[in-house]
Amino acid sequence: MKQIDPNHHSGQILNNIDLDTTFKYGFLKKSLVRVASWYMGKKTKFFLDFQYTQESIIPPKSNKNKKYLLYLHIPFCKTLCPYCSFHKFKFEEEKAREYFKTLRKEMNIAKSMGYDFISLYIGGGTTTILPDELVKIIDYAKELFSIKDVSCEGDPLIDDTLVRLLSKKVDRLSVGVQTTNDEMLKKIKRYKKFGSSKTQLENITKAIGKFSIVNTDLIFNLPSQTQKMLEDDLDEIIKLNPEQISVYPLMYSPSVKKKIEKNIGKLHNENEINFYNIIMDKLQKNYNQISSWTFAKKNIHTFDEYVVEYNEYIGLGSGSFSFIEDTLYINTFSLEKYKKCVEKGNLSFERFKKYNENDIMKYQLMLDLFSNNIDMKKYKKYKILFQLLQWFGILKKDLFQTTPFGKYLLLVLMKEFYIGMDFVRETSRMRLNR
Ligand SMILES: C[S@@+](CC[C@H](N)C(=O)[O-])C[C@H]1O[C@@H](n2cnc3c(N)ncnc32)[C@H](O)[C@@H]1O
Ligand code: SF4
Repeated sequence: MKQIDPNHHSGQILNNIDLDTTFKYGFLKKSLVRVASWYMGKKTKFFLDFQYTQESIIPPKSNKNKKYLLYLHIPFCKTLCPYCSFHKFKFEEEKAREYFKTLRKEMNIAKSMGYDFISLYIGGGTTTILPDELVKIIDYAKELFSIKDVSCEGDPLIDDTLVRLLSKKVDRLSVGVQTTNDEMLKKIKRYKKFGSSKTQLENITKAIGKFSIVNTDLIFNLPSQTQKMLEDDLDEIIKLNPEQISVYPLMYSPSVKKKIEKNIGKLHNENEINFYNIIMDKLQKNYNQISSWTFAKKNIHTFDEYVVEYNEYIGLGSGSFSFIEDTLYINTFSLEKYKKCVEKGNLSFERFKKYNENDIMKYQLMLDLFSNNIDMKKYKKYKILFQLLQWFGILKKDLFQTTPFGKYLLLVLMKEFYIGMDFVRETSRMRLNR
């Protein structure tokens, strides 16, 4: 059966891949995905409806019996990609060095509140933007806390010096590739800064084998992306042989949507499912699927979504999120306000949202399904829901594992949730310009 490629820029014909090897996507499943996505969008709006307060927010004291993760946000990038809604500013060295200094002070505040952490996740933006500052902040975190593993997100500007500096300090280095197609790299404004796909892949090779885990990020369903382009992306990345591959569906909040349409092309959703089947088909041969969008080499235990791995985490730095006990907190997005807050001896929490037990349970169930890690003892009271999930072909019949269709559905739900977070970032950043 042939299907017209809705990406009519290329006007190419897409061969429908053999869905029998993965899953059939009939009317019922299509409708289920639509309804679930609509419901998730609505639920997320409620879930992320933060409250502002004039008073400074004092988070609860640490609980010695709990394991927390420390997230640090580095909001600077050398190029601002039009599809990206993460919290970041165009890199200015002086501002960035000042920011790292404030971040170290904020870590001291968390320490004085009794918090200790076993894992450190540094995200961005681009954490490798000032390698000497990155090393300093990792060393400082290890001095203050019981950190056992460190994960960082960086861009493809990797050279031997960076690898030498970081390889003994960082366990997992995640690098954004997004696409290996040079024309697409130009459209998404990464070619000029990071070079051609060949150059970028050569640079990433320098890191492979030097860290316990190198993860590479790809994005699928970009405007005008064809089946062939995605297959080439996956083949190139498989050749590179990283320990982990993350393949994200394109996600966008309203203002990012405008930027994507202006710079990259018209958005379409019709191909997402076909693209997802191609990804599962290609990657499952050499990798274990550890979540709806992450694949890891066999024998590697890791996860890139810190929100999934840890029930409770503290986010320091401008624009970070924290989840402690029953409350989600969000830090100020303004760098000036951030500095003032920390100078006064406070964490930079600006807004919060409290949840009831039932909401937390449902959220955790979604994360457990997303990462295919379902402990039935935890969800005894959801017996009927689990039967329904099996009936709709989302869970396998006897094993409590998601089916290929279940994995796609969970990808759609997580996408909605992340779009909700992007929307929070977007509206928070708009307030900065007032
Ligand atoms: C915070 S970025 C850090 C990576 C690094 N700054 C870089 O671009 O090379 C982490 C990843 O998020 C993913 N990402 C960013 N915007 C996205 C979007 N709109 N849709 C899907 N994935 C996105 C990209 O794959 C990116 O590599
Ligand atoms: S994708 Fe990476 S480099 Fe591009 S704007 Fe987002 S965080 Fe910065």
